[in-house]
Amino acid sequence: MELPFSESYKIKMVEPIRKSSREEREAWIKEAKYNLFNLRSDQVFIDLLTDSGTGAMSDRQWSAMMLGDESYAGASSYYNLKNAIKNIIGFDYFLPTHQGRAAENVLFSALVKEGDVVPGNTHFDTTKGHIEFRKATAIDCTIDEAFDTTIDHPFKGNIDLNKLEHVFQTNPKEKIPMLIVTVTCNSSGGQPVSMQNIKEVHALAKQYGIRIIFDSARFAENAYFIKTREEGYADKSIKEIVKEMYTYADGMTMSSKKDAIVNMGGFIGLREEDLFKKASQFNIIYEGFVTYGGMSGRDMNALAQGLDEGTEFDYLETRIKQVAYLGNKLKEFGVPVQEPFGGHAIFVDAKRFLPNIPKEEYIAQTLAVELYKEAGIRGVEIGTLLADRDPVTRENRYPNLELLRLAIPRRTYTNNHMDVIATALKNVYDRRDEIKNGYTILDEAPLMRHFTVELTPAVKEMAE
Ligand code: F0G
Repeated sequence: MELPFSESYKIKMVEPIRKSSREEREAWIKEAKYNLFNLRSDQVFIDLLTDSGTGAMSDRQWSAMMLGDESYAGASSYYNLKNAIKNIIGFDYFLPTHQGRAAENVLFSALVKEGDVVPGNTHFDTTKGHIEFRKATAIDCTIDEAFDTTIDHPFKGNIDLNKLEHVFQTNPKEKIPMLIVTVTCNSSGGQPVSMQNIKEVHALAKQYGIRIIFDSARFAENAYFIKTREEGYADKSIKEIVKEMYTYADGMTMSSKKDAIVNMGGFIGLREEDLFKKASQFNIIYEGFVTYGGMSGRDMNALAQGLDEGTEFDYLETRIKQVAYLGNKLKEFGVPVQEPFGGHAIFVDAKRFLPNIPKEEYIAQTLAVELYKEAGIRGVEIGTLLADRDPVTRENRYPNLELLRLAIPRRTYTNNHMDVIATALKNVYDRRDEIKNGYTILDEAPLMRHFTVELTPAVKEMAE
């Protein structure tokens, strides 16, 4: 008999989590103004808010922390990280930052000005925020297949070359400081970009003289999908695939809190010395001196080790198979989910789940609140709240997809937890016809409102 699949690690340290009653959760979520970001972590049983910074570090990472060099300038930890980035990814120049959005802030300060356009596959919200904050425009060039959760396409993160060329043709080169390829594409469902697409995008960008930056938070998961789904890559190691991917990039911003399995950290990787020098100035004023930029020596050491572990096939297989385990359970229960499954999360199609809720009442948020009330599971809305208002018209932007993201922290929960999550969602699904009211906004911030938005249940006029 063939042996079943199991994790490529064993557990050395545990952290207790606590169940609660439905009454407790109803009171807590009301007090949190129906915003799951306002809950205390001890009010949550299984926390799927994000896979960012929530993973479990390995014994090797913890021991690397003990060897951290906290020198202000020229620390050995900086050189450990510099070597890891050079060896695993291939960039000669790098700047440490405290997390991914800080890398965006520093790099975009050097590159983006008012009136610019930045095409890419659905930009992550902080990325878009940093572009719009500079009065520039992010243009989504993702393939149309990405926006239909029922279409089975192996690389839904791909960029549509026609859409991209249209941006290149209708804007002067000076107005396009870069093109951003997000690997994997978080906002469209943790979907990968194929090597073929990366190559074609690179060729087109070079034809028009445009710089390519990879938003790299989940670059290793992208490489796993290339290995397992794209012809010609089955026999290549993850590290070989990663190296090849980055031969098509001029630079990268990185949130190390995902695929590098640390709790905090980020960096910028670059090929161009001039741009590195320009960005260094911003790094110094926003983050810290260029050899630590917002990170302690011990954190840089753990990150160097994490980059190595995060690009090993056995680890990635364990991770991605756990996400797929949850996805398959949900499918068995008939719950509508984005397919194929994303790398870091399962995305529940809230429009198909809750057809009774109008889009003006925040469909995916309504589902997120219901799941929390059901079992203390905290997911996150990837829908209208996240999409924010149009910066010019101030109207709500209604995205094509209303998703509830169940992000799976790395090396943190077991498949028993996945069973609890799937069963809880099934229970909500079974009573979906009883869920008729969504939410309306009481208060919101002008930018990135989803973090702090305050909501109240929508009250409908009684039908005659
Ligand atoms: N780019 C992508 C693709 C991301 O997913 C994130 C963060 C960032 C950039 C910003 O990095 O958080 O380190 O500042 N995504 C998290 C998430 C927050 O939950 O998906 P950061």
